[in-house]
Amino acid sequence: MTALRVARCLPDGFLAGALRADARAGLTATPKVLPPKWFYDERGSELFEKITRLDEYYPTRAERSILRAAAGQIAAGTRARTLVELGAGAADKTRLLLDALAGAGTLASFVPVDVSETALIEAARRVAGEYPGLAVTAVVSDFEEHLGLPSGSEARLVVFLGGTIGNLLPGQRAAFLRSLRSRLRPGDAFLLGTDLVKDPAVLVAAYDDAAGVTAAFNKNILSVLNAALGADFDPDAFEHVALWDAGAEWIEMRLRSLQPQRVTLPAIDLQVTFGEGEELRTEVSAKFRRERVAAELAAAGFTMAGWWTDGQGRFGLSLSVPAERGPHGRRGSVAGRAAFHPPHPGIGEPQLGDQLGGDPLGRDRPAAEQVHRDQVLLRPGVNGQVRLGQDQHQGNRTVGEDHVAGVEHGAAAGLHRGARGGGQFRDIGHR
Ligand SMILES: C[S@@+](CC[C@H](N)C(=O)[O-])C[C@H]1O[C@@H](n2cnc3c(N)ncnc32)[C@H](O)[C@@H]1O
Repeated sequence: MTALRVARCLPDGFLAGALRADARAGLTATPKVLPPKWFYDERGSELFEKITRLDEYYPTRAERSILRAAAGQIAAGTRARTLVELGAGAADKTRLLLDALAGAGTLASFVPVDVSETALIEAARRVAGEYPGLAVTAVVSDFEEHLGLPSGSEARLVVFLGGTIGNLLPGQRAAFLRSLRSRLRPGDAFLLGTDLVKDPAVLVAAYDDAAGVTAAFNKNILSVLNAALGADFDPDAFEHVALWDAGAEWIEMRLRSLQPQRVTLPAIDLQVTFGEGEELRTEVSAKFRRERVAAELAAAGFTMAGWWTDGQGRFGLSLSVPAERGPHGRRGSVAGRAAFHPPHPGIGEPQLGDQLGGDPLGRDRPAAEQVHRDQVLLRPGVNGQVRLGQDQHQGNRTVGEDHVAGVEHGAAAGLHRGARGGGQFRDIGHR
């Protein structure tokens, strides 16, 4: 039997209720707004995967090139037994981390977490098929409400890739990071992918491709409302808009009404009108600078221990550990020193702008494959092992099939729209 389990953390009907609440609040607000998590029904997830293959959409390629170069070092530094991926999607790039952790001999389980159930189960099924012996638990959850972290395992590496964190507004981002930090223990680590500020033309093109795939993805949110709420949105009566907000340093995706129109949403007993040219914001995608990533992580109680960018400086990947002092300077119960073992002993202590790979200067690799690394704290662990965090637990608790019952509860209650129950976990068994 394939070692795949599917689990739900949220009460029955929670997501349906959240969609109704978000539609009502967002469509009656001025200006109108919808949260981007509702893009991702089955079709939305497929469209996103198409986007990742577009010429204009550099983030996936850039992040993959970083992971390809740095996964071994991340695996050696974290020695993670459990890889938890928030907003996993197709978990495609994740295989680089799975391979590296398997190669390091530490990997025992993979826990992809996503709100898009069909895509999640399909991705988890594929991973389970490709990695015999790996315990895979697909967790259907909204990570703003319930992180879905397995509690019974040690040395967890939580990864949040694809720049998805940029879809959270600053306050949501801070709450999300604090919530995650509060759930991490010594020996855990957090790998975060952040898209970086760059030429606005490059950014806008990534969100407004010539083939119109992103436009279809954007309009799909209307089809989601039609299907879930019996709404009568005509996606063709809206046009896709992508713009760069230089002040906020984020891309906004909007849907602009091409005509005056009235839309009915029977399931929530709501009628809304759109004026010609009126816009509905469907996504922000914040772009970062390294200092901001470090500052936001620090404010949440993380210490950034590693930072890599691709050769063109388009995308950043940071590896963090729980800081010795939690948020607001409170002393936490965890250690904050990061320890990495350099994968290439000849390189030694990395300096700003170090590059990973065979040639320390990266001269033997094409530009797109060059990866820059800096701010990595190196400290060999006991007996030549490397450790993240001074107080990492020893011991060897097995992460077996029953660990799913220990998925942590109520991780982010109150983050997004107030506490909606502490979160309930139900293992719905093998698939
Ligand atoms: C931009 S895609 C990134 C997918 C993948 N991690 C990657 O790097 O290509 C965002 C993913 O996060 C999921 N997602 C968005 N908001 C979420 C939320 N609040 N809770 C759980 N998953 C969410 C979506 O379903 C989608 O699979």
